[in-house]
Amino acid sequence: MERTLIKDTINKIGQTVLLQGWVKTVRTHGGLIFLDLRDSTGVVQSVVNKVKNEDVFKIAKTLTPESSVEIICEVNKRPEGLDNAKMTTGGVEAEIKEIKSFVLSKTPPFPVDTEGYEINEEIRLKYRYLDIRRQRLSRNLHYRSQFINLIREYFLTHDFVEVETPYLSSPTPEGARDFLVPSRLQKGKFYALPQSPQQYKQLLMVAGLERYFQIARCFRDEDPRADRAYGEFTQLDLEMSFVQREDVMAIVEDMLIKVYKKIGAKIKEIPFPIYTYQEALKKFGSDKFDLRSEEDKKQNVQAFAWVMDFPFFEKTEEGGWTFTHNPFSAPLPEFKEQLLQKKNIAQILTSQYDLVCNGLEVGGGSIRSHEAEVLKAVFEIMGYKDEEIKAEFGHMLEAFSYGTPPHGGIAPGIDRLLSCLLKEPNLREVIAFPMSSGGKTAVMDAPAEVSQPQLNELSIMIKTGQKDQSLFESIKQLLNENKMSYDVLEHEAVYTSQEAAKVRGTKISQGAKALIMVGDKKPLMVVLPADRKVDFKKLKASCQIKDLKMASAEEVKKIAGVEIGAVPPFGNLMETPLYLDKNLAKENEIVFNAGMHTKSILMKYSDYLKAANPVLGDYTS
Ligand code: AMO
Repeated sequence: MERTLIKDTINKIGQTVLLQGWVKTVRTHGGLIFLDLRDSTGVVQSVVNKVKNEDVFKIAKTLTPESSVEIICEVNKRPEGLDNAKMTTGGVEAEIKEIKSFVLSKTPPFPVDTEGYEINEEIRLKYRYLDIRRQRLSRNLHYRSQFINLIREYFLTHDFVEVETPYLSSPTPEGARDFLVPSRLQKGKFYALPQSPQQYKQLLMVAGLERYFQIARCFRDEDPRADRAYGEFTQLDLEMSFVQREDVMAIVEDMLIKVYKKIGAKIKEIPFPIYTYQEALKKFGSDKFDLRSEEDKKQNVQAFAWVMDFPFFEKTEEGGWTFTHNPFSAPLPEFKEQLLQKKNIAQILTSQYDLVCNGLEVGGGSIRSHEAEVLKAVFEIMGYKDEEIKAEFGHMLEAFSYGTPPHGGIAPGIDRLLSCLLKEPNLREVIAFPMSSGGKTAVMDAPAEVSQPQLNELSIMIKTGQKDQSLFESIKQLLNENKMSYDVLEHEAVYTSQEAAKVRGTKISQGAKALIMVGDKKPLMVVLPADRKVDFKKLKASCQIKDLKMASAEEVKKIAGVEIGAVPPFGNLMETPLYLDKNLAKENEIVFNAGMHTKSILMKYSDYLKAANPVLGDYTS
């Protein structure tokens, strides 16, 4: 039997159909079980009667909410007065004839039939696949898909070509930090994930494509906010040749008007009002302003506006200059000479135009510098030396020397436009798998540690003991850098100083025992001969600590990155203060577990002093 979608059941009265989906709710009413069944198109009420169909009743009884099932049922019109006006399928009820469950669901960690705003974000993201079962999120994702499709359709019918530009690339500055990806083939070198396709789209203009667009992923390591996704977000990126800023603004405006009309969204003012930066500051006190009235807000009206004539540069904290928006922008024509001569820098205006909607900056673009000397002057004003300009942007200057057309573009932010349209307070609500504000990915546990062979292959060493093996490598590196000799002892796993001494064949007093402690809530490390004990009073007095205790096993793992018993006496590699008991000086050679229970390092006491640089004192009894 062919599957019927739940939204279509309303047209199948009197027919027997096959439905597949999830159990939304199960309610038992004496001899009746009511199952609300949900698929991606809707919800329908189904029912099984114990007397009529005992076998099916028994199966229905075992079903849990959110289980995946299929039912064969007869679609009946509901009796007069029993319609449910709240459901689109509220006029029918499905009488279950057969039932099969695919996978019974465990109890979900949170309800999926609420709006979900009240649930802890970490948990929502960990179980995002359940979170998306809620109607609001599923609707948002369907809406997003339709929205992007309409945008694409517009550009493809207006002579634009969609081009995918690389993700593994060299840095493109947009004012955020880069995400770096290490190269295996060229060790010690890194790719940067693009903060935007800015440079590639300009190169496509040099290449003669004339009209480019892309639904582009951008990667930025910047502080997250409700209106700023951490890690990655999506832009509608576009660029056009032989245009003025009015041409770019006109095409984006036309596209938005047409797309919003098709999805049934209302725009407050057409054509979009235009403000200069100065006017906006004067009128609204900000260049991101909200033109909506209270009534507009209720009706979810979208209030677009353009802002332009921004200053090109602003002062840095160090007293130099940096760009306000985009270093690749051209100055307004009347300021070109000043820019080339690097005069009146604060007064130079850029060709930048920002698109604002409902108080958010939803897009930004500009006419670009297509002459190499103008672009070069921008970087010079920002204090770049010739070699730096050549190294970082030489490829652009070179490209510009081959008949570059004048060009300009813009990049509206898809996530922000959608959050306005869907009245969502946070961009995460319109992204399928967003990162948490702490930079953790949804569902999958990234960023994560990688295996030592992978690190070796990339020639990467983790500096502060996040991993036992890399801590071992860090110690070796430190000793090698200082040209110190040492022996690495491989042995069976040891957990106590006595065991260790026995297995290594060294004296207990040679063992440099490293204890992680917490003094006035801050971690510290005390190193002492393994046959002695810390004297809390002495340590507190000489370090001027009021409250001192041993760190718990979890704290040790967090601070040192390795387990108790494997902690090496190098607090300096874990960024903790390091106190060394003077009694260890009695030994010429010391030995310690080097981040692992199975590896020790034997080295000269005098070398250790130099490499670890501890505060020497009397800390034991
Ligand atoms: P800009 O950096 O202004 O310009 O970015 C353009 C638009 O992208 C959106 N946006 C973001 N959305 C969600 N989360 C973020 N972290 C985030 N950062 C930016 C905003 C913003 O207006 N290459 C230029 C564009 C150009 O000049 O053509 C650029 O990237 O809506």
